[in-house]
Amino acid sequence: MAIPRDYDDNPDRYRRGMTASPGAPDLYAALAAELPDGGAVLDVGCAEGVLSRAVAAGSHRPRLLVGLDRSATMLRAHPGPAVRACATALPFADGAFDVVVAANSFCHLTDPRPALREARRVLAEGGLFLAATIAHSDSPELAPVWKPPRTAFDAEDAPGLVRAVFDRVEVRPWDAPMVHLPDPPAVRNYLVARLMPPAEAEISARWVEVPLTVTKRGALILAR
Ligand SMILES: C[S@@+](CC[C@H](N)C(=O)[O-])C[C@H]1O[C@@H](n2cnc3c(N)ncnc32)[C@H](O)[C@@H]1O
Repeated sequence: MAIPRDYDDNPDRYRRGMTASPGAPDLYAALAAELPDGGAVLDVGCAEGVLSRAVAAGSHRPRLLVGLDRSATMLRAHPGPAVRACATALPFADGAFDVVVAANSFCHLTDPRPALREARRVLAEGGLFLAATIAHSDSPELAPVWKPPRTAFDAEDAPGLVRAVFDRVEVRPWDAPMVHLPDPPAVRNYLVARLMPPAEAEISARWVEVPLTVTKRGALILAR
């Protein structure tokens, strides 16, 4: 029920995932646009700081943006400030942040509820929790060779979990053909980025008719 973590021993797999979806809208620019000028922001599961870089390139200017991740390997490439810790035990005082972001990170938790409670604890009164997560029904065109693994924070279930902890929850789903895979190497890279072993991805890619446009499904969840 949780996606396996390989960030410490196979960082290239994550990096491949950041480039293997040509045509997908920029999730991090969308998240950056939600951040209040002058606020303090915590990015839980920050990896190498993709959100920090999107904020630096955008027009919203938080006063503070702190990354937090379990993976020492990921954090080495983070522009900082960043801390190594677990989403379920945030090393911060109650009410320390105006925004807590969890972008594609709670899918790694067997039970996201303790992490949701921690996010709420470190948020100031009226603070914003922002989560982005993929649907179990993502990439349906690839279903003959691959299906997203079930996680405890799939977009189908995540809003209900967030509602159990936060009072006001808005869900902005996405469901559209977004990713263009022109040839078998692109299909292979897409599958490897999603944790398919490379040799299996190589074979699977040969069975997929290309060019292929893949439907991306997921949700941005905003809660207070
Ligand atoms: C799919 S990556 C997402 C990274 C980044 N937010 C993004 O959207 O590209 C998931 C990240 O969550 C981190 N992670 C997984 N479980 C965690 C936990 N319990 N506490 C903190 N970070 C965790 C992983 O190390 C990894 O860097």
